[in-house]
Amino acid sequence: MAADPSTAPLPGGEFLLATCHGGAEEVLRDRLLALLPGARPGAWRRGVVTIRLPPATRVPDDPSAGRLAACAFARALVHCHGQVTGADAVTLAAAVAALPVAASASHLHVWQRDPRPSRETADTPDAAVARATAALVAAIPGLTPGTAPEGAPVVDVVIDDERRWWVGWHRAGSVPARHPGGVIPVPAPADMVSRAWLKLDEALTAFAVDLEPGQRAVELGAAPGGASQRLLAAGLGVVGIDPALVDPRVAGHPGFTHWRKRARDVRLRELVGFDWIVTDMNIDPTSTLEALGRIATARGVRARGIIATLKLPEWSRAAGLDGWLATIRGWGYAPRVRQLASGGREVCVVALRRPRHRATRPPGE
Ligand SMILES: C[S@@+](CC[C@H](N)C(=O)[O-])C[C@H]1O[C@@H](n2cnc3c(N)ncnc32)[C@H](O)[C@@H]1O
Repeated sequence: MAADPSTAPLPGGEFLLATCHGGAEEVLRDRLLALLPGARPGAWRRGVVTIRLPPATRVPDDPSAGRLAACAFARALVHCHGQVTGADAVTLAAAVAALPVAASASHLHVWQRDPRPSRETADTPDAAVARATAALVAAIPGLTPGTAPEGAPVVDVVIDDERRWWVGWHRAGSVPARHPGGVIPVPAPADMVSRAWLKLDEALTAFAVDLEPGQRAVELGAAPGGASQRLLAAGLGVVGIDPALVDPRVAGHPGFTHWRKRARDVRLRELVGFDWIVTDMNIDPTSTLEALGRIATARGVRARGIIATLKLPEWSRAAGLDGWLATIRGWGYAPRVRQLASGGREVCVVALRRPRHRATRPPGE
């Protein structure tokens, strides 16, 4: 029987490897180091960060499922075996096959760091991933590529370039960890009004949020309407607040109402009775939180959940993240956070209301 990958020898000590949105490396590294006292920075490339753990540190088999999820910027977080190098995919796959982890995994995740077509080869990330996957499946019998069932041991191969792959493993615990690179495939509907449809769909899946038909949602920053379109598709009634125009395909939906104004111009008594507060405004994250806090803490507003996009004008603004999450906790909600693969320089916060919590109202409300 195959050995558990967590008992496989790890040459050179225990490293973690995280892949992220290109540009988020420094923020991700700093957040991981803050969560792992005594850890040291390892190598980094665009879209890849490695961290050396201090001896005897225990990290779950699915590192992305535990407290390290709070690092927010890791799309995938895995135990790292280091790199293999070679002239082509077949040679590289043979080197992976010789590692103990190859014998102990049932599934295979292959992805490319910070995927962009290579200028030199005019190759596409998809072609490079397909070639590597074919070579690995041929070299390691019994590995199933692609989405893994919950709990499956997975061997991870991150394509750095044509001659260098990173190799690791994890157990498919959380929803994102079941998908290669933590990227949850989202099928885009043909009539999608904006990319916000994809972001909301990914957030609902990644955070396992159940929307129920008949619930009511209010969206701050709703135009042109992709996220509202996704909410409507789930059977919700939606009020979209935005001074800008909403696409006629959403505006004309019988379940949709457009309040054509800014969030702060909406009277609080109009916001009673909503189950979800969704926001995706292209304003500073502190202004988004102000607008959200005004509503979430208003008398009579008892939304069960908040789904908020916080835009980061610069990556360095991620330094405010823990403070923002503390503010949301003060409103009586339990926030979780993730930078979505379908999003840009921003984070998605999903916060469900904690039972019997008295919200801290912002001053002046
Ligand atoms: C990224 S777009 C939103 C995309 C939208 N959620 C969708 O699903 O298509 C940002 C929107 O925020 C709106 N916005 C910015 N400041 C706002 C405010 N104070 N109140 C309401 N909407 C605002 C803008 O007009 C813009 O339409």
